[in-house]
Amino acid sequence: RRKIAVMTSGGDSPGMSGAVRAVVRSAIALGHDAYCIYEGYEGLVQGGDLIKKMVWEDVRGWLSEGGTLIGTARCAAFRERYGRLAAAKNLILNGIDGLIVCGGDGSLTGADLFRAEWPSLLEELVAKEELSQDQVEPFKTLNIAGLVGSIDNDMSSTDATIGAYSSLARICQAVDYIDATAASHQRAFIIEVMGRHCGWLAVMSGVSTGADYIFIPEKPPGEGWEKQMCDIIARHRRLGKRKTIVIVAEGAIDRDLKPITSDYVKKVLVDVLKLDTRVTCLGHVQRGGTAVAYDRMLATLQGVEAVRAIVRAKPGSPSPMIAITENKIIRKPLVEAVKMASVAEAIKNKDFDQAMKLRDAEFDEY
Ligand code: F6P
Repeated sequence: RRKIAVMTSGGDSPGMSGAVRAVVRSAIALGHDAYCIYEGYEGLVQGGDLIKKMVWEDVRGWLSEGGTLIGTARCAAFRERYGRLAAAKNLILNGIDGLIVCGGDGSLTGADLFRAEWPSLLEELVAKEELSQDQVEPFKTLNIAGLVGSIDNDMSSTDATIGAYSSLARICQAVDYIDATAASHQRAFIIEVMGRHCGWLAVMSGVSTGADYIFIPEKPPGEGWEKQMCDIIARHRRLGKRKTIVIVAEGAIDRDLKPITSDYVKKVLVDVLKLDTRVTCLGHVQRGGTAVAYDRMLATLQGVEAVRAIVRAKPGSPSPMIAITENKIIRKPLVEAVKMASVAEAIKNKDFDQAMKLRDAEFDEY
C-alpha cells in the first residue's frame, strides 16, 4: 500500500482541481492512501496541517472548478537546500513515497531537482540527526510524476497543458465581446493576453477570432514591422472590415529584445492610420473561471496516468512527465521535458529559430 501525495504549484489554471480529484480517486481506487499538499511547495516545506489525508468525498464536485482548490504559492524556501531538506523530512514523517506535482515548467524543474537530490537530502537529515537511519531506510527512492498545469501552454514536450484551452476559450469570448463594440464605432482594439514567454495563447486566440495582426515573443517582427502592420490593416479596412483586432502577447518583443507594448502599437495605429484605438489588457480574467471540457478530460486522464506511473515505477527509472501527444496520453522523462522548456533562454540569446524549434513550430514567411 503506497502513500501518494498530490500538489499544485506555480500559477493556477482551470483543470488543476480536476487533476487533484483524479489523482486522489485513482490512488484510492487502486488501494493506496491519497494525500494533498496544500499551498504548493510552501505546504511541503511547512508540513503540519498543510499535508492532509484525503477520502473519496473530499474531492466531490472538483472536476469543473477553476483555479486550484488546494492552493498554490510561489515558494522561495523550496528553491534553497534548507527548504528541500524540510520538505523531504515532512514527506518521510507522513510516510509519503510518491509525489505528483501539477504545475508549470518552473515547478516541474523544482520537482526534478528534488528527485535528483533525494539520496543526499536523506543523508544530510540523518547526519544532522533530524531523522534516524531507521526512519529513512524505507524511503530510499521517492517516485515523482509531473503533470503540466499552466494556461500558457509553454511546455514543448506535450501538445497541451492543463488549463490552456480554458484560457483560450475565455480570451475568445472576451474578443467576441469587444468585436461588437469595436465594429459599432469602427474602432481598433489592441488586446493584451498572458503567456509569459510563450505566444500560444496569442496565436491561437488570433486564429480563432480572425485577428488582423499578432505579436508573440518567439517570432519578433523584423525592422519596419509598423509599416507592414499598417498596410495589412489598411487593406482589411478597404475590404470592408469595420473593426481591427491586434493581439499582443504579454512577452512580445522586437528583435533587439525590446518589449513591444500595447501602448506603442496603439500609437502607431493612431498616428499612421488615424484609427480610433483602445487598449484592453485581459489580465487574470483569462486564468479564472471553470474548466472547459477538454481540460476536464485532460486533467482526469493524466491524473489517472500519473498514479499508474508512480505505482508501476521500477527502481531507478527516470521520473515521468505525463504528456499528451497526437491525442495519446503518454509518459516522457521529466528531466528531458524540463530541458526542452528552455525557450526563455533561447529568446534571451536572440536564437529565435531555436525558440520556434523548441515550440515544435515552424512558420514560413509569407
Ligand atoms: O504562468 C501563468 C501566468 O498567468 C502567465 O501567463 C503570467 O505571466 C503570470 O502567470 C502572471 O503571474 P501572477 O499571477 O503571479 O501575476
